[in-house]
Amino acid sequence: MSIAQRAGTLPVEQAHAIRVHNIAKSFGSSAVLRGLSIDFVDNAITTVLGPSGTGKSVLLKHLVGLEAPDQGEIVVFGKDIWKISEEERYALRKRFGVLFQDGALFGSLNIFDNVAFPLRKHTDLAESEIGDLVMTRLREVGLEHSAAKLPNEISGGMRKRAGFARALVLNPDIVLFDEPDSGLDPVRTSLLNDLIKEMHTEHGGTYLLVTHNIPTARRLSDYVGLLWNGALVHYGPTDEAFDSDDGFVRQFLTGDSVGPLGMD
Ligand SMILES: Nc1ncnc2c1ncn2[C@@H]1O[C@H](COP(=O)(O)OP(=O)(O)OP(=O)(O)O)[C@@H](O)[C@H]1O
Ligand SMILES: [Mg+2]
Repeated sequence: MSIAQRAGTLPVEQAHAIRVHNIAKSFGSSAVLRGLSIDFVDNAITTVLGPSGTGKSVLLKHLVGLEAPDQGEIVVFGKDIWKISEEERYALRKRFGVLFQDGALFGSLNIFDNVAFPLRKHTDLAESEIGDLVMTRLREVGLEHSAAKLPNEISGGMRKRAGFARALVLNPDIVLFDEPDSGLDPVRTSLLNDLIKEMHTEHGGTYLLVTHNIPTARRLSDYVGLLWNGALVHYGPTDEAFDSDDGFVRQFLTGDSVGPLGMD
């Protein structure tokens, strides 16, 4: 069976805020994305899994317009993001919340100012309104007492929660998470997962998550996509993926060293 045939399809009646159609991306002579297509399901949590170096982070960067594909289309809310003006692309970007691996907080700003940053940059809200919104978000992630701390004065798990609060502060329609659980112990990973799930239930939105953590994928996601060699090799509801008897999907989800997947 070819890789293209392995890629699952989803019911056509699903709406898609983000559609990725046949994108390819090379860096120098290294082809990273090779004809990747995926339509993310709206208002669901989708996890993208795949071996290291397979292009997961590169895919996320394409979705927010930080990388441009060599070929193919990325359509966000019906607009091909590389066929619109820079201003329109900038406006679309405001509908995304992004949580990168280390929380990516500004080290010289305290937690309050980090979370306030997108509001000060993108809105005309008064400082009193900003204060209310920031404190609401900080309460939601359990950091209301750490607002005045600098990022290096709080733990890694708290930094992730602060990054999450900042990612949500503009009420984004789409939230991207690149390995939100990396570097966290199992208990903090579970707590962060519960928080992500709660916030999704509370606020809705399309959440896309990249992780290496299979229990996280199982616990959090409605849909699972598997990337391999720069293309989608499986995509479908989480239960279906975990019940799959496809050797490839099983190996991926069990981390088994024996199976069709090698080191190449
Ligand atoms: N700006 C860049 N310039 C050159 N090569 C890049 C660039 N960004 C990514 N790459 C390469 O593209 C490949 C895919 O990188 P990517 O970061 O997307 O992997 P990943 O699937 O997220 O891996 P991991 O699970 O380890 O985070 C890697 O070989 C990486 O070195
Ligand atoms: Mg990555």
